[in-house]
Amino acid sequence: MSYKNLFSLEGKTAVVVGAASGIGQAAAKGLADFGAKVIVADMNLEGANTTAQMIREAGGTAEVRIANLSDASSVTALFDGLEKVDVMVCTPAINVRKRLLDYTDEEFDKVVGLNLKGNFRLLREAGRFMKNQGSGGSIIVFSSIRSLVVEPGQGIYAATKAGVLQIVKTLAAELAEYGVRVNAIGPGVVNTPLTAPIKANKEWYEAYSRKSALGRWAEVDEMVGPVIYLASQASSFVTGTIHFVDGGWTAIDGRFTPPL
Ligand SMILES: NC(=O)c1ccc[n+]([C@@H]2O[C@H](COP(=O)([O-])OP(=O)(O)OC[C@H]3O[C@@H](n4cnc5c(N)ncnc54)[C@H](O)[C@@H]3O)[C@@H](O)[C@H]2O)c1
Repeated sequence: MSYKNLFSLEGKTAVVVGAASGIGQAAAKGLADFGAKVIVADMNLEGANTTAQMIREAGGTAEVRIANLSDASSVTALFDGLEKVDVMVCTPAINVRKRLLDYTDEEFDKVVGLNLKGNFRLLREAGRFMKNQGSGGSIIVFSSIRSLVVEPGQGIYAATKAGVLQIVKTLAAELAEYGVRVNAIGPGVVNTPLTAPIKANKEWYEAYSRKSALGRWAEVDEMVGPVIYLASQASSFVTGTIHFVDGGWTAIDGRFTPPL
């Protein structure tokens, strides 16, 4: 067997939800570079169009669809008329950074509503579609290091990121017999609009840099390789797991480097 095409996505169709910004935009561009036709989906139509334009300018194939994970009918409509979906990537999430004692019911509903319920809706629709098409597929959801480790102010976001991981594991168990693999990616800290409030605070930004073994933040481009790996044949025996892409954040405790 030749391994030269292990990562190829030629002839595949990938739906990327959250593709207007940040990690989703980079994932959409990366999937197209590896040969997939990309359905660029987001609630932000203007951003989705920009991503699709970037893909086309790089010689790839892209189609734009509007999708709002807070609206069940919009999630169902996303898959209408698609011939096949080999890969589905889900990135939308929000964070309200606040201590638990200060968290309101409305803030809880907002964060859980998108990160857990919205992501669930998309997983359910993608899972149904891939089960019925009979040719399998790969579902990739963005969780976080916060599924494992927390700090003050991250409680509800962290709960959603751990929750979505359990949904990923269960869906992997339920869809394995249909050839559908389901995995999560757990980034550390990545420079995107989501983390802009942290970047704006020098002390917080630098503390995050020091925390990981690599001693810095990630750029969105560094999330692309793991997406291609999980999308392609290269990960054909990988399902129901989380792939941390965190520069070693969850491996080390980061307190101190002994003088050894
Ligand atoms: N950036 C980081 O440091 C980091 C770290 C760990 C995990 N993550 C996870 O990675 C994922 C992507 O994060 P990002 O930094 O690229 O975020 P981002 O805010 O840059 O992009 C999120 C995208 O989702 C879209 N979106 C928001 N609500 C939506 C909805 N209801 N329906 C459809 N689309 C919607 C937005 O329009 C935007 O294009 C998230 O799940 C996040 O929790 C990010």
